Amino acid sequence: MSKTILVTGGAGFIGANFVLAWVNQQLGTVINLDKLTYAGNLANLESLKHSAQHVFVRGDIGDQHLVAHLLAEHKPCAVVNFAAESHVDRSIHGPEDFIQTNVVGTFHLLESVRAYWSTLNAADKADFRFLHVSTDEVYGSLTKDAPAFTETTPYAPNSPYSASKAASDHLVRAYHHTYGLPTLTTNCSNNYGPYHFPEKLIPLVIHHALAGKPLPVYGNGLQVRDWLYVEDHCAAIRRVLEAGQVGEVYNIGGWNEKTNIDIVRTLCHMLDEKQPRTDGKSYAEQITYVADRPGHDQRYAIDAGKLSKKLGWKPAETFETGIEKTVNWYLSHQDWVSNITSGDYRNWLQTHYAERGEELA
Ligand code: NAD
Ligand code: DAU
Repeated sequence: MSKTILVTGGAGFIGANFVLAWVNQQLGTVINLDKLTYAGNLANLESLKHSAQHVFVRGDIGDQHLVAHLLAEHKPCAVVNFAAESHVDRSIHGPEDFIQTNVVGTFHLLESVRAYWSTLNAADKADFRFLHVSTDEVYGSLTKDAPAFTETTPYAPNSPYSASKAASDHLVRAYHHTYGLPTLTTNCSNNYGPYHFPEKLIPLVIHHALAGKPLPVYGNGLQVRDWLYVEDHCAAIRRVLEAGQVGEVYNIGGWNEKTNIDIVRTLCHMLDEKQPRTDGKSYAEQITYVADRPGHDQRYAIDAGKLSKKLGWKPAETFETGIEKTVNWYLSHQDWVSNITSGDYRNWLQTHYAERGEELA
């Protein structure tokens, strides 16, 4: 069987990091199927423009005709499904796209993959993998001292986004149990790093600090997220793809719990050092508490012990090394940021933050 894989959502934040690493490490050819929603950006893949190992196809995971054609033509040995609507705040404003892509789209993708898989010979059938990339948010919210999420924590999604991801996880599980499709599911904590779309906390704070805008902190800023450098997430996915037990779920996380206000203060401090404000004041002066996210989950924490014990994965970056790389990347890729932060992005800021009592556009 070929070493070709089909990646969906490979023009987004994590997908692009995954595709870049796969091609740069010469692991094989990637067929990259992405709808190019507002979050998809071909500039992320600019360095692969002349690579024969990267084939980009603009399209929807829900388009069974297109996906069947791609599978028949390229005969991938795995499908890695990153494609999703991924922003919690957008899911609160408009859940429909989340249901359409994350639930209905994943269903159609599973149907296309099941049909293709059933045509393979016995050896290729056994080697094939469908890896579904999911999130820790499906497990709900933790209290301050509760143990971290394990793979057996009951699902309790609280936002339209996490509910749609939970539904897709259940479909993947069902396709393994019912049809024997060789699936793997990964549930990861918050990622950060290069190509992170600046509607999410870390890139938004960097961008807005440098632009002299308020740094919006929801509620009291004491919510906790568990941060993992994106390249560590990609390495974990490669490891699960290579050695994960079919039908199993693997939690991925970096053992890096931080409150949101700590993250924002850390970023301000780093920017004060690297690119001080012209008036000599700290970027922390721009911190502005705004109305909380409705239904805001208080705390996420991932226990990645299974992945580490069974498959020997551990993150290469600490939070300190990862955030240093990230801030440096944003400072040296201001053109990438400014290409995104116009048009629709400004409309999003206008609507979303006006509701929280701030003018950010
Ligand atoms: P993203 O929003 O940056 O990228 C999503 C990509 O999917 C975009 O390129 C978009 O164009 C594409 N896409 C959307 N709908 C599509 C469709 N119907 N068909 C084909 N392509 C479509 O998201 P991300 O942050 O890179 O997240 C990738 C995956 O990882 C998602 O499934 C998300 O739930 C999961 N995840 C994200 C994080 C995180 O911290 N960002 C953490 C854990 C899991
Ligand atoms: O936990 C994994 C999830 O992490 C992924 O499944 C999602 O796709 C990804 O978007 C991310 O979700 P979060 O909601 O945790 O990420 P976000 O960057 O939107 O917010 C991080 C925290 O910061 C959250 O508690 C809300 C808060 N926040 C966010 C923004 C955008 C603010 O305080 N102010 C802001 O302006």
